[in-house]
Amino acid sequence: IRSFTVLAFESSADDTAVAIVNSERQILSNVVRKQHALHEGYGGIHPKIAIEAHQRNMPLAVQQALQEARTSVNDIDGIAFTRGPGIGGCLSVGSNAAKSLAAALGKPLVGVHHMQAHALTPLLTCSTEEAPVFPFLTLLVSGGHTLLLVATSRSEFKILGTTLDESIGRTFDKISRLLELKWSNRGPGAALEEFALQTTQQDLESVPALPRPMPKRLAFSFSALHSAVERFVYNQGGIGNIAMSTRRGLAMGFQNSAIAQLEEKLGLGMDWCARENLNIRHVVVSGGVASNQLLRTRLSTFLNNWGDHPICLVYPPVALCTDNAAMIAWAAMYRFLDNDFDDYTIDLRPEWSL
Ligand code: KG4
Ligand code: ZN
Repeated sequence: IRSFTVLAFESSADDTAVAIVNSERQILSNVVRKQHALHEGYGGIHPKIAIEAHQRNMPLAVQQALQEARTSVNDIDGIAFTRGPGIGGCLSVGSNAAKSLAAALGKPLVGVHHMQAHALTPLLTCSTEEAPVFPFLTLLVSGGHTLLLVATSRSEFKILGTTLDESIGRTFDKISRLLELKWSNRGPGAALEEFALQTTQQDLESVPALPRPMPKRLAFSFSALHSAVERFVYNQGGIGNIAMSTRRGLAMGFQNSAIAQLEEKLGLGMDWCARENLNIRHVVVSGGVASNQLLRTRLSTFLNNWGDHPICLVYPPVALCTDNAAMIAWAAMYRFLDNDFDDYTIDLRPEWSL
């Protein structure tokens, strides 16, 4: 059969992304224009600024994606876009581009669920031997998501747990800022990881035990951990009064607590799957926080010691762990190949459960 080539748009949050992927799993181009610098001062994504940046960036991103793939728009067989969930105004920039382009070219259109696309990414990036087999668990840990999902097929997913307050990535960012760490060029979370590398047992013992919220519940929470660190710093009269060794202890103590929570919820997720008679052999961990080396080591040890059969931990490459349009193209590919298309008039789903 002939190869099928998809051009995909993603603009659900603060990244403007366009990618071209074919049915042979080749990523011909993967353009991501980040907006971090525009939102830094707001402590989160400012919707109006994000929409305006998508509007400026999207035409350039499409142009670049076609150039890098050395593809003419006439060689594109289908157009995909993120239908939801996300910020309505942001989603509309990618979806309007996709719908108009598909209609103008007379090509089929598919709207994709952003979380399903994250969960299916390893089926694009892993070799056949390493690719996860259904059913598998997915842990999405980024600035935007803290989610535990079970994927039972390419189109059936269930959310087992999400965060009740802050995301894990934003908590890393805020603790990093509180400790006044210099951002390495990889950002605040990576700076915290690097800072904590030199921590000794004595440093760890110089800080109080940090809370592990909501044991036994399939939901995440990071605000109690965040405020415990804040309270400690406040009670010492500010970060300036805290010795470097104690700051390192705080950074490491925070990471230990946050990762322990991921381990616990992953365990509860495995228990849930066992009760549903789902035989889990793979766990996919994705999102910006999944680049944390301590997290990877701890989760893989945790899974190696789980139950009576080994469970493999799978990571997409970091560039495809974070928001991108290649994952949108791949999630749509299955539907294009099944001739299962959407109308050019399809609506958005800013709130869209799985
Ligand atoms: O997926 P992502 O790039 O973007 C969105 O959330 O949209 O995730 C970014 C998050 C930030 O909070 C960042 O600080 C965190 O991932 N992060 C890390 C590390 N690298 C990035 N957190 C902990 N350790 C790291 N090495
Ligand atoms: Zn995402």
